[in-house]
Amino acid sequence: MDITLEGKVAVVTGASRGIGLAIAQRICEAGGDVLLVSRKAEGLTEAVGTLEGLKGAASWQVGHVGHPDDAQRTMEVCLERFGHIDILVNNAGTNPYMGPLIDIDGARMAKTVEINQSSIVHWTKAACVAGLGDGGGSVLNIASIGGLMPEPGIGWYNATKAAVIHLTKQLSWELAPAIRVNGIAPGLVKTELARAIWEEHEDRIALQIPMKRLGVPDDIATAALFLVSDEASWITGQMLVVDGGTTTQSSGGVG
Ligand SMILES: NC(=O)c1ccc[n+]([C@@H]2O[C@H](COP(=O)([O-])OP(=O)(O)OC[C@H]3O[C@@H](n4cnc5c(N)ncnc54)[C@H](OP(=O)(O)O)[C@@H]3O)[C@@H](O)[C@H]2O)c1
Repeated sequence: MDITLEGKVAVVTGASRGIGLAIAQRICEAGGDVLLVSRKAEGLTEAVGTLEGLKGAASWQVGHVGHPDDAQRTMEVCLERFGHIDILVNNAGTNPYMGPLIDIDGARMAKTVEINQSSIVHWTKAACVAGLGDGGGSVLNIASIGGLMPEPGIGWYNATKAAVIHLTKQLSWELAPAIRVNGIAPGLVKTELARAIWEEHEDRIALQIPMKRLGVPDDIATAALFLVSDEASWITGQMLVVDGGTTTQSSGGVG
């Protein structure tokens, strides 16, 4: 299948590195234009530099996904630079707390909900106001296999990812037929966010995964490219698990 995104414009949050940057790269390679968003200009300029020379154009905008005003401003910038918006990838996420659920403090609870969960609604709303549905739009939410099952240590993060899975279905109902809303639930991917989990235990963790390796950002980006493209025009409200087979086992795994 030759997937093209020529003529499409995407906003990707959390795109200065990791899974978000890999998704931005796949979109640019397919001819789509991308506005990369994260909190820090330095990381964004570096990221956009790696996309130079691809088929689509890449640009960046500083934005905090927890701030609804930043969502609105980002969409305005997207319209100024590219004229329209067709694809929103809600990718930015955080995990500020590791430990038993009952010991988490209120501030970190609230921050995790704000970044991982509420942002999905704020950014999708801002994209809709900017005309996401006008030409047949697509939203992709990055959840986690942690949203599908309990795991020690990251229970609150996982609860917000379970919410992302539910929000994906809810939004798909509310925004159809103009806009498709899907998600990806990754297993453990070698990025900064998950470094504390995989860095010293990679070989041991890999042995527990049916495909015998951890994920890399491009494993997620390849699936993302398909879901945001017109090739997936009859797919909405779905959560694609991309985890090397981790969740096929009764013991589950980290993601
Ligand atoms: N890695 C895994 O194993 C794994 C597994 C399952 C799900 N996921 C999910 O995949 C998504 C991407 O994670 P990743 O592993 O690629 O993480 P990462 O490599 O740490 O990248 C995170 C990106 O998000 C940006 N970011 C962080 N907080 C932000 C905020 N408040 N507003 C805007 N941008 C923000 C960061 O840039 P700045 O610092 O410049 O803001 C960076 O570009 C997350 O939703 C994560 O929960 C990851």
